[in-house]
Amino acid sequence: MITVRVPAKVNVQLGVGGLRADGFHDLANVFFAVALGDEVTARPGTGVTLTCTGPDADQVPLDDTNLAARAARLLAAHHGIEPHVALHIAKAIPVAGGMAGGSADGAAALVACDALWQLGTPLPELLDLAADLGSDVPFALLGGVALGRGRGELLEPLPVTGAFHWVFAVADGGLSTPAVFRECDRLREAAGTGSSEAEVPTPDADPALLAALAGGDPVALAAALANDLQAAALSLRPQLADCLAAGLAAGALGALVSGSGPTCAFLAKDAAGAEQLAAALTASGTCRAAHPTYGPVPGARVVDGA
Ligand code: C5P
Repeated sequence: MITVRVPAKVNVQLGVGGLRADGFHDLANVFFAVALGDEVTARPGTGVTLTCTGPDADQVPLDDTNLAARAARLLAAHHGIEPHVALHIAKAIPVAGGMAGGSADGAAALVACDALWQLGTPLPELLDLAADLGSDVPFALLGGVALGRGRGELLEPLPVTGAFHWVFAVADGGLSTPAVFRECDRLREAAGTGSSEAEVPTPDADPALLAALAGGDPVALAAALANDLQAAALSLRPQLADCLAAGLAAGALGALVSGSGPTCAFLAKDAAGAEQLAAALTASGTCRAAHPTYGPVPGARVVDGA
């Protein structure tokens, strides 16, 4: 049996460009991997089977739409072998929460099947397969902190000093990523700025944000947090504003919607601050649960290969 641990992500900057002809948006996407993560195990099986446990397990599809199952089939096809594996996901990452949990499971399944089937696939090949599965899957393989360009799959690791402490406030019910991107386009059209590639300036990474990461400065990072999808997530789920305000009132250094939401991310000054903030957010009644965690952490990796 192979066990792979894989992190969730928060986008400390999510700059969204115009809508491309292929239906995606060009991004300047600064991914940050956090310790809140899933574990995917791979055992010998017949065909591809999938099971899942965890608080949100009932919301996880167990058919071939699950990125973990798709990853197993894609890796097998790439090597011209039959896919035989029993996959299990121990799910801690919120489902449809804007933390790339489904993408994380896809990345973890690639690594777990590669080990189980003793394929030794080189990382660049795994990254290409990951990009075929989804825009956020390559980052879940890499972990750490990275700038994602293109639709988010063209990654450049970024320097970072020390650990940053976070709280993630989980909402009731998820948000659909395509729906949030569509709402972003709609808001841009309504504001008269247009939403196409020709009309929206190409986003770029914020130098102040990169300096805050490199210097290990949570106050500076908090000031630079930015998510171009936040207005769209708030438009679809207005009550998220209450959660963001509750975290800031409780002493968070900074707050933003994580990716396409609805999970809200809060930066704390240290581990003790994150514990206090999580307790205050839980008590505020503006979220279903609040989890303290930290990062950056590595990408999908085998933790048990017995
Ligand atoms: O790549 P992934 O399958 O995760 O993308 C899901 C959806 O999110 C896409 O179909 C698209 O609607 C939207 N998306 C986008 N631009 C990106 C990434 C995703 O519009 N860069």
